[in-house]
Amino acid sequence: MSYEHYVITLQDLPEPGSTTVEITVRDRKHSIILVRHAAQIYGYLNQCPHRGTPLDWMPGNVLDKDRRYIICATHGALFRIHDGHCIAGPCLGEGLIPIPLKVDGGTVYIDQESGAFKNQKVNE
Ligand code: FES
Repeated sequence: MSYEHYVITLQDLPEPGSTTVEITVRDRKHSIILVRHAAQIYGYLNQCPHRGTPLDWMPGNVLDKDRRYIICATHGALFRIHDGHCIAGPCLGEGLIPIPLKVDGGTVYIDQESGAFKNQKVNE
């Protein structure tokens, strides 16, 4: 794995909270959601399995009002934070595509070699 792509410091991601970051891997742009919850950081492609649209309902905000689930802005599907599994909505039983992360010295890094970046649509 190659965790060379720095994306954010923990200071910039309060708990519980979320943000989105844009990264370029092999000349393709990808939008990633990062969620900080229960002392963990989770990363997923910012792409709903229902229609492929971005999840955030405001820039960087993908959590529901209780901050217990990731919510899709388009049709309201709910996803568990810890594994991205959809528990309600039109894509029930499907899941978000996880992005391997590493936290080192308060900085979050993304695995650029993740299979999640292969065969994905280009977000521009
Ligand atoms: S696009 Fe996300 S629930 Fe429909």
